Amino acid sequence: MSDRFETVAKVGEIPEGGVKVVRVDGDAVAVFHIGGVYYGLADICTHDGGSLADGQLAGYEIECARHGARFDIRTGAALTLPAVEAVPTHAVRLIGEEIQVACESCDEKRVAAAGGGTAGGAAAGGAKAAAPPRQAPTQQEFAMRAALETVMDPEIQLSVIDLGLVREIVIEPGRTIIRMVLTTPFCPYAPQLAADVKQAAMSVVDQPCEVEILPDPWNPQMMPDPGLLGFST
Ligand code: FES
Repeated sequence: MSDRFETVAKVGEIPEGGVKVVRVDGDAVAVFHIGGVYYGLADICTHDGGSLADGQLAGYEIECARHGARFDIRTGAALTLPAVEAVPTHAVRLIGEEIQVACESCDEKRVAAAGGGTAGGAAAGGAKAAAPPRQAPTQQEFAMRAALETVMDPEIQLSVIDLGLVREIVIEPGRTIIRMVLTTPFCPYAPQLAADVKQAAMSVVDQPCEVEILPDPWNPQMMPDPGLLGFST
């Protein structure tokens, strides 16, 4: 995961339904705000370079002001012609009152900058040699994890997040996949738990959600805070 986040705004600077264009390592990023969740999109229409921040926002769809292509701000997916390619998304997170954006190229640019002032070509080569940055958790994933904190294991009375049952959240255009484990094999509550997880996920991202139960055994060290069950960390 790229941990390279930059603070671009404070909570309150982007009103509900609003957008702010920020620059992260020189790239223009449109940060949209809907329902307490922030979404980052490259501020460049894939049809012909129009600014998406100048467009009309309707629900989760932004319509490019130039020729009317629409995009889903949650996934970047192109929804209508004349655009056919998705717009790159940028991970956004909230740390306290700070809205922070991660840029996929941040690490590469910083590696290049740390290369000792070499010429552009050499710096670029150094950047290529760097390990590829991992995908940063998006604001959607943070919001989804927050929603999943309300889904309780009926036996232990801790949430699926507190128990560390949710191992992976994948949000793709058109579907969400949640991979989780159970505290005990053949848990009788598994179907209900999976249904509750699905419902919580869909309350954040309104698209089909698949819950995959992994065969891996659960152990308390999977918990963010094993102390909740009396285990030492
Ligand atoms: S530039 Fe956006 S639709 Fe043409």
